[in-house]
This record gives sequence, C-alpha cells and structure tokens, in this order.
Amino acid sequence: MSQPVYLDYSAATPVKPEVAEAMRPYLSQEFYNPSAIYLAAKHAKRQLDGIRQSAAVQLGAKPAEIIFTAGATEANNLAIQGLGRQYPGAEILISAVEHESVRAPAELFDSREVPVDEHGRILLNKLSNLISDKTLLVSVMLVNNEVGTVQPLSEVAALIGHIRRQRREKGNELPIYLHTDAAQAGNYFDLHVSRLGVDLMSVNGGKIYGPKQSGILYVKAGLKLWPLIVGGGQEFGLRSGTESLAAAAGLAKALDLAQNARGAESKRVTSLRDYFESRITELIPGAVTNGTKNHRSPHISNITFDGVDNERLLMELDERGVQCAAGSACSASSDEPSHVLMAMGLSREMAQSTLRFSLGAQTTKDQLDKAVSALRQILQADR
Ligand SMILES: Cc1ncc(COP(=O)(O)O)c(C=O)c1O
Repeated sequence: MSQPVYLDYSAATPVKPEVAEAMRPYLSQEFYNPSAIYLAAKHAKRQLDGIRQSAAVQLGAKPAEIIFTAGATEANNLAIQGLGRQYPGAEILISAVEHESVRAPAELFDSREVPVDEHGRILLNKLSNLISDKTLLVSVMLVNNEVGTVQPLSEVAALIGHIRRQRREKGNELPIYLHTDAAQAGNYFDLHVSRLGVDLMSVNGGKIYGPKQSGILYVKAGLKLWPLIVGGGQEFGLRSGTESLAAAAGLAKALDLAQNARGAESKRVTSLRDYFESRITELIPGAVTNGTKNHRSPHISNITFDGVDNERLLMELDERGVQCAAGSACSASSDEPSHVLMAMGLSREMAQSTLRFSLGAQTTKDQLDKAVSALRQILQADR
C-alpha cells in the first residue's frame, strides 16, 4: 500500500532529523542532573543555560523569561492558574475560540468569553466593553488550531496598553496582562514577544517538528506567577522537577529551524493550501472553506461538506489512506460539535459536517490531489 497522505500537522509533527541530532547527546552522554554539584553536572547546567539562551533569542526574550514546560497545555495552565490563584475575585477574559487547555483553566476562575466574527476573529469592541476594573488577564491565541484564524494580537496589545494607562491614572493597582497561546504559530509567524506585545506566551515543541511534551512559557520580567508544580524549585521556582536537557535542546533547535524558515515555508504551504482549496471548490459541490484567507495561517483548511457526517467521512478517508481531523485532536473523542465553529456562527449540523486538513513540511501537490480524489470518490458514492 502506498504511504498515507498525512494532513493532520496541527495535531502532531514528526521530529526533524536535525532536532533528533540536537537531542541525542543529552540522552546518554550528557545525562547528568544539572542540579548536582560535580563538574559534569555543572557542565550540564551550563549547557541548559545555553539552550535557554538560544530559545530566548528566537523569541526576543531574556533567558530568565523562558520557562521550559511539558508542552503547551502546561504552559497555558501555568499562565492562567499561576496568575488567577494570586488574585481571587479578579476576572479572566478569553476569546471564544481558545483551545481546551486555555478554556479549562480559565473556567476555574471568574472568566468570560469574548465573541468572534464569522471568520473566528475576536471582536475588539466587545473585548473593550468586557474589560472591567477587575480584569486581570486577557488570553487570545495567535493562530486558531481548528480554522487557522490569525487573531489581531497587536490591536489587543494596544488596547491593553491603553487600559493600563487608564488604571494608573485612576489609581487601580490591579495589573492587566496579555497571554497568547502560540502553539500553532511557530512554523509560519514571528514569535518575537515585544513585536507581539504580549506578557505571557505559550509555545509548543510538538507542533514545530520538536519533541512532544516540550514547551515554553514566556513570562515577561517582573510578572509574578505562582507555580503549579512545586518541589525542587527548578525553572526559577516555576516548574519543579529535574530538567530534560534533551527536550529543551530539541525544542530550542526546532524553534530555531522554524523561525528561520518561516518566510519561505509560509509561501510554499500557502500555495499548496490555495491549490487544495481551489480543487475542492471546483470538484466538490457544496464544499465551503471556513475562515478568511486574509487572516488565516497557511497550514489549515477547515472545510464544511454540507449534509455529510464528518466522523464517517473521516473514517472513510482514513480507509483510503488520507489522515485528517474533525475539529481539534483533543475533542476528537467527544460528540460535541466544535465550539470554535459554533462561535463563528455555524449551526451544529454544519459543525458536524466539517473536517480540518492541516498541511506541513512533507505535504506535496500530489498528496493533495490524492486527498481530493478520495473525497470525490466518497462523496459521489454517497449521492
Ligand atoms: C492552540 C493549541 N494550544 C494548546 C495545545 C496543547 O498542546 P499539547 O497537547 O501539546 O500540550 C494545542 C494542541 O493541539 C493547540 O493546538
């Protein structure tokens, strides 16, 4: 059987050979615990410092602002719970299209969702109206994982800057911070924190051809968080547990490769995605692409096939060697329609007729032709 056509890069990316190479020394030779006191361990500690420095450079941050975590779920939880627990009674605002790993921790506190437009972009006027004197944190993802919608983060940052100045004038001492979940963004967008204007940012190694369970929470200097995991006090007291130099080195290498290639890769993947969507529009009557091309990451096509059950279509595609997703991987096992699509105004039925195809490093035109032809065969047999 020929190789399957993998169109689920939003769920997982294969580790690049250069990344595996960067990890290798720390698996066996340099296995030492960086907190130990003999020379070899001190050397490991210096290596970890270097890895942190390299990740910091890619994000335009200082090394002490980089907290290594086990993925983006943990980074999102550390950001939201680490702030929320310190300020009982304060409010958290999240966009209505956030990933579950932002929604669930936000729900532990007094939180509200900011509505989005039909393309999944946050409504800035609604955000502005929802911000109150008690708002502590606004969390808006950089790139949505189901539709690929890119959020107007710099406008959100400007609004928050304005609120901060107003608070200072009024003598309101409650801080207000901006967090972004950038888990889906690293391959195509600039992750420079000061250009983005964020105070907290989550990065995910497993989506940028690095190891799974590797991630970063960027925490702007001066911002105090409470740790979720306490113990030996590693990661500046914010994330106890013996550090994994292999995971950190893999993530830093993946970040370096992704950020340096993002211009060329964006162009390549955009042209493949546009080709895919134009073939679908041409050949599959009634198929509609969600989101707007102007504000969409190159790697995601979210397509509604009117009247078709997405779970069934997904399985039939799989039988024909095409791997894609119905919504996010995390909610794949639930029967609930996507909260992202519903927030964009799609009906339950339409949400349950929608598939996500996500492209990546090994995607070719030929693979996309195979996927379109499999879709045609299935849908024609249905009608
Ligand atoms: C936008 C977004 N945030 C957070 C996560 C969670 O990442 P992980 O499961 O690797 O912790 C994902 C994973 O799909 C994601 O797409």
